[in-house]
Amino acid sequence: MKLVLASKNPHKLTEMQAILAQLGVEVVLERDVGADVEVEETGATFEENAFLKARAVMETTGLPAVADDSGLCVDALNGAPGVYSARYGGPELDDEGRYRLLLDNLRGQLDRRGKFVSCICCCFPNGDRVEARGECPGTIAYAPRGEGGFGYDPVFFLPQMKKTFAQLTAEEKNAVSHRGVALRAFQTELEKYLNGINE
Ligand code: IMP
Repeated sequence: MKLVLASKNPHKLTEMQAILAQLGVEVVLERDVGADVEVEETGATFEENAFLKARAVMETTGLPAVADDSGLCVDALNGAPGVYSARYGGPELDDEGRYRLLLDNLRGQLDRRGKFVSCICCCFPNGDRVEARGECPGTIAYAPRGEGGFGYDPVFFLPQMKKTFAQLTAEEKNAVSHRGVALRAFQTELEKYLNGINE
C-alpha cells in the first residue's frame, strides 16, 4: 500500500518511512505524486489540524494520506502556544525568537510544567480514519541549553534525564518524544486496521 505524507518536510518522511516499512507500507511525499496542497491549519486542536491536512491531500490525490500536527502546551499559559506553536509571536520570529518569547511570558512563573503533543491522522478514500496521539511531559527551563533539535527543544527540560530536548541525541529524543510515542501508537493502530480489512 502507498501512503502520501501530507508534508513537504523530507525529515518527517524519513521518520514515517522507518516506522511503516515494517508493515509493508510505502510512504511518499506529496510532490512524489504531483501534488502540492496548501491547507490552512484552522483547527482548534492538534487532532483537527492533522485531520484537515490528511483529508485535503487524500481528496487531491485519491490516495490514503497521513498528516501530523504537533506543538508545545504550557500549563501556566493555559495550554499556549498549543496549536499556534509554529506561529507563536507572529511570522517575523524564528525558532529562537519564539522560545525567547515563551521564556519572557513565563518570567517570574514558578509553575514551569508543560508537554509536547503530537497527533497523527491517516484518511482513506473510503472515509475510514486511523489516528494516534503521543505526549511527552516536561518543564520549561529558565534559560536555553543544548545545540541539537529544533523549535522549542533548547527550553524543553526533561527532569528524569536532567537534559533539555536539545541535549539529547536523535535516538534518545525519539525514545521519549511525543512524536516517537505517536508514531509507535500509529504503527500499532494502522497494523490493526490493515489486518482488519484483509481478514
Ligand atoms: P507542525 O509542523 O505544524 O506540527 O508545527 C509544530 C511546531 O511545534 C514546530 O514548528 C515547533 O515550533 C513545535 N514543535 C513540535 N515538535 C517539536 C519538537 O520535537 N521540538 C521542538 N519544537 C517542536
